[in-house]
This record gives sequence, C-alpha cells and structure tokens, in this order.
Amino acid sequence: MAFFTHLVRRGFSSSTVRNVVIKHVTIIGGGQMGAGIAQVAAATGHTVTLVDTSDDLLKKAIKGIEGSLKRVVKKKFADKPEAGEEFLQKTLKNVSTSTDAAAAAHSTDLVLEAIIENLKIKQDMFSQLDKAAPEHTIFASNTSSLPITDIASSTNRLDRFGGLHFFNPVPVMKLVEVVATSSTSQETFDSLLNFSKELGKTPVSCKDTPGFIVNRLLVPYLAEAVRLHARGHGSKEDIDIAMKLGAGYPMGPFELADYVGLDTTKFILDGWTEKEPNNPLFAQIELLNKLVAEGKLGKKTGEGFYKYK
Ligand code: 3HC
Repeated sequence: MAFFTHLVRRGFSSSTVRNVVIKHVTIIGGGQMGAGIAQVAAATGHTVTLVDTSDDLLKKAIKGIEGSLKRVVKKKFADKPEAGEEFLQKTLKNVSTSTDAAAAAHSTDLVLEAIIENLKIKQDMFSQLDKAAPEHTIFASNTSSLPITDIASSTNRLDRFGGLHFFNPVPVMKLVEVVATSSTSQETFDSLLNFSKELGKTPVSCKDTPGFIVNRLLVPYLAEAVRLHARGHGSKEDIDIAMKLGAGYPMGPFELADYVGLDTTKFILDGWTEKEPNNPLFAQIELLNKLVAEGKLGKKTGEGFYKYK
C-alpha cells in the first residue's frame, strides 16, 4: 500500500501502475530493425502490426521477414520440413501491415518505434500516437543514440515510456537493452523486461545515457578503426582480419560499420559531438563524412568501405 501511495504522490494514477502483459505490438518502421523486431515478436506468438509510410515499403519488409524466417526454419526444423512450414506460415499470419500509425495504435499493448534517427520526427509521431493509443499502452523507442527522455517529452505518458534497443541482425543477436528514464515506472520497466525475455532475448538494464552500453563502447571503437586507417596505419582488410583473428570479433570494424550503415554510425557520432564537442572519442572523421556524402552508406546501398553485389 505504501508503494502505491508513493507512486500516487509522484503523480501516477492507479491505472498506470499495473504490469502490462504485452500481447499485441505495433512496430513503427519496416526497415532492417523494425522488420527484424516484428519477425521475432511474431515468431514468439505475439500479434504484430507493422507500420510504414507506403505499401511498397511494407511489401519489402514482409519479403525480408519471409527470407529471414526461411533461414531460421532451415536451421531449427532441419529434420522436420512440415513443422518448419507450419511455423513459417503461423509466424507470417501473426504480422499484419498498415500505413496508418494512429489506427494501428488504437488497440495495442506496445508501440515500438524504429524509424529515422530524427528527434523532431520521433516526437511528432509519438505526440500523435499518445492521443490515439489506449491508456495502458506502453511506448518504446529503438533509438541508437537519442535520449529516451527527449523523445518521451512529447507525450503525456512519461511513466509508460522506455527504450528497447535491439541489435542487427535482430533474429540472431541475443541482447536487448532495456532503458528506463527517471520517469519510467517500475511496472513499465518490468513489462519491457518480460517482453524481451518472451522474445527469447537476454535483456540488460540501461540508464538513459548516450549510446546506452553497447553503442557507447562500439561506436568509438569503429570510429578509431577508421581514423587508424585514415592515418595510413593499416589497410581496411588488415584491420578487419586483425580484429577478427586477434580479438575474436565476428566481423572486423569496417565490415561491421558497413553492416550497421555508415549513415547510422555518422549520425550517432554527430549527435555526441554536438553534446561534447571536445571529446576526442567523438571527433569528426573526414573519410566517413565523405562516404556518407557520396551516398555510400554500406551494405544497404551496395557500397560503403567495401563494395557488395
Ligand atoms: N535472419 C535469420 N538468421 C540469420 C540472419 C538473419 N537476418 N543473419 C544471419 N543469420 C543466421 C544464419 O542463418 C546462421 O545460422 P547458422 O549458423 O545456424 O547456420 C548464423 O546466423 C550465422 O550467419 P552466417 O553464416 O550467414 O554468417 P556469419 O557466421 O558471418 O554471421 C553475423 C553473421 C551473425 C551477422 C555475424 O557476423 C555477427 O555476429 N556480426 C556482428 C554483428 C553485430 O555486432 N551486430 C551489432 C551491431 S550494433 C547495432 O546493431 C546497434 C545499432 O544501434 C547500431
């Protein structure tokens, strides 16, 4: 009882202190991350509405999910092709699509955003969805680097807002960073933690600090690899081989930067430079800026540090 009184004193209504069991998820953004999250949520029995701005983008996302699911089926159901086909169809059936975010949010337990890394666009979207979604609905962002507190500030559900940060490729990477702001309620945090576990992931708890845990360590490492190469102290190929064979990383830093997207990497660094202009870990990198300006964004555009077929 004392706990509830404490929450009410902090401004939470009694209707917001329940744990939300997340059964239906609305995922905004059908890119690599959004589609990957939709896939794992659907594969673990959740119903999912995947939202994007056009039917073409949604068709592409569903095609990507189907391709990725086939890889999972090939591995998981190697000796049982019929069960594999059943799993594939059942999972696909759990995913519906929509170009109307507000309509999708109308009856959902969780709205998870995986759209462009632009604070204003995210805030505008959540502000609109805040009016459309039911009171119990939890909002979460998969942002790589923007403060969850800033995104949440556009809504009136600060206690029901958190971060859920997944890793690429989502069906393979086991980690989810669960981010609580100073306003996220314990119940919201627990719901997000349980949801991550239901997806078969291992959650870690993060504070709302730049880059959370993984990107705060990974992005300066990627940046330093590019600087090392730009100084003429190692070829891309040698640096990649060195980190794979000498440090046991599955990909070298140039392969990984191309995989994550050079625009994403640059965006993260730019945001941090703005906040801490004198931190040498975040300093601008000419070579990275040049590739991004040329539209060489990595694997997704066919060229980044390397060329792809
Ligand atoms: N869907 C389903 N399964 C997939 C898949 C996908 N999209 N991609 C790979 N797999 C599966 C394959 O089927 C394969 O399964 P198997 O070993 O049982 O046959 C397994 O994953 C390995 O795949 P591959 O054999 O094709 O290739 P690799 O062995 O080279 O592994 C990799 C690929 C898993 C991507 C590995 O190189 C890796 O772990 N790389 C590092 C990825 C990483 O660091 N990600 C984090 C990036 S940071 C981030 O995302 C944060 C963001 O905010 C920037």
